[in-house]
Amino acid sequence: MGLLGSLTMLLLTILLFSSFRAVTAQSNSTGDARALDALLQDYAYQAFLSPRTGVVYDGFVPSNLTGIMISGMRLRSGSLRTHGVSMYKEFEIPMGVLEQPYVERLVLVYQNLGNWSIVYYPLPGYIYLAPVLGLLAYDASDLMAKNLPVLDIHASGQPILIKFSDIKSLPEGPVPKCVSFYLNGTVIFSNVSQDKTCTTFQQGHFSIVVESTAPAPTPVSPVPPGLGGGPKQGPAPSGHSKKNNSKVWITIGSVLGGSALLIMLGLLVLWACKYKKTKEMQHMERAAEVGESLEMTRVGSTKAPAATGTRTQPTLETELKIVV
Ligand SMILES: *[C@@H]1O[C@H](CO)[C@@H](O)[C@H](O)[C@H]1NC(C)=O
Ligand SMILES: *[C@@H]1O[C@H](CO)[C@@H](O)[C@H](O)[C@H]1NC(C)=O
Ligand SMILES: *[C@@H]1O[C@H](CO)[C@@H](O)[C@H](O)[C@H]1NC(C)=O
Ligand SMILES: *[C@@H]1O[C@H](CO)[C@@H](O)[C@H](O)[C@H]1NC(C)=O
Ligand SMILES: *[C@@H]1O[C@H](CO)[C@@H](O)[C@H](O)[C@H]1NC(C)=O
Repeated sequence: MGLLGSLTMLLLTILLFSSFRAVTAQSNSTGDARALDALLQDYAYQAFLSPRTGVVYDGFVPSNLTGIMISGMRLRSGSLRTHGVSMYKEFEIPMGVLEQPYVERLVLVYQNLGNWSIVYYPLPGYIYLAPVLGLLAYDASDLMAKNLPVLDIHASGQPILIKFSDIKSLPEGPVPKCVSFYLNGTVIFSNVSQDKTCTTFQQGHFSIVVESTAPAPTPVSPVPPGLGGGPKQGPAPSGHSKKNNSKVWITIGSVLGGSALLIMLGLLVLWACKYKKTKEMQHMERAAEVGESLEMTRVGSTKAPAATGTRTQPTLETELKIVV
C-alpha cells in the first residue's frame, strides 16, 4: 500500500507538471515582443556607419518583417539630460531624461510597428487607431553589438510626449485611450491629451486605441495591468499562426510524454503486484512442503497451493500471467 501511495503521488505530480507546462507555453507574448526589440536593435545599429550625434538614421528591417519602420539616433547622455530632443519622429523628449546605468553615449531606437502592431501587442477588446510606436535606449559604445540590454531611461521633469500623426478617424461613441506597454509587461491606459498626444515618463511602446464595440463571438475583457500582452485572441494575422502552432505542439508533446510515463508506471505497479504474489506463492509452497495441510491444485499451467474449503482459489495468478 505504501508503494501504491507514493506512486499515486508521483503520478499526480507529473500530471500537474504537464498541465502547468501547457499553460505557461501558451501565455508568453511579452517574450515575443522582447525578442523583436532585440532584433530591431541589431537592425537599427546596422544603419549607423559613422553616425553623427543627434542625427536620425533610418534602418531597414528583414523582409519577413516588412511593414515595420525603425530608426536610430546617437546622443551624448549629457546632451539628452540638458537639452532633450525637440522632435524624434513622433517623440518629443524634454530635458531631464536620465539613464541608468550611466553611459557616455546612448542610442535611442525608434520603432513603428505598422501593421505588425496587433501581432506583437495583441489587445483583445480594443481596436488600434494608430500603429504601436516604440522608443528604447541602448548603450552606444559598441555599434556592432547585438542583444544589448535596454538602458533604463526616465523623465525626471516633464514627461516625454508622443504626438501621433496618422490616426484613423475617431469613431463616434467610445473615447480613444492612450495605451502604454512597459518593458516589464505592465499595460497602462490613460487619457489622450489635445492634439492626439500621449505622455510617458518611461520608455516602452505606445499607441491609441478605442474599446471595440463590434459584437465579439466571445466577450473578451481588457488585459488587466500587470499581464503583458495577454492571450492571443482576435484577428491574428497569418504571420503569427506558426508560433501558435509550435505552442500547440509543445502542449501535445507534454500530454503525450505524460501519458507514456503513466503507462510505464502502470506497468511498474502491475509488476510489483505480481512480484508480491509470486513471493507469497513461494512462501505457501514452502509451507506445503513442510507438511501443512495445503492441497496443490492446477490453475492454468501453474502449480498453486489451495487449502480445501477454507481458502479462496488463487485464480488471480492466471490473470497476472496475461499482463507481463
Ligand atoms: C516568457 O518571456 C519572458 C520574457 O522574455 C522570459 O523571461 C520567460 O522565460 C518566458 N517564459 C517562458 C515560459 O517561455
Ligand atoms: C526574420 O528574419 C531574420 C533574419 O533573416 C531572423 O533573424 C528573424 O528571426 C526573423 N524573424 C521572424 C519574426 O520571423
Ligand atoms: C504588413 O504589410 C506588408 C506589406 O506592406 C506585408 O508584407 C506584411 O506581411 C504585413 N504584415 C502583416 C503582419 O500582415
Ligand atoms: C512596470 O513599469 C511601469 C513603468 O515603469 C511601472 O509603472 C509599473 O509599476 C511596473 N510594474 C511592475 C509590476 O513592476
Ligand atoms: C480621463 O477622461 C475622463 C473623461 O473623459 C475623466 O473622467 C478622467 O478624470 C480623466 N482622467 C485623467 C487622469 O485625467
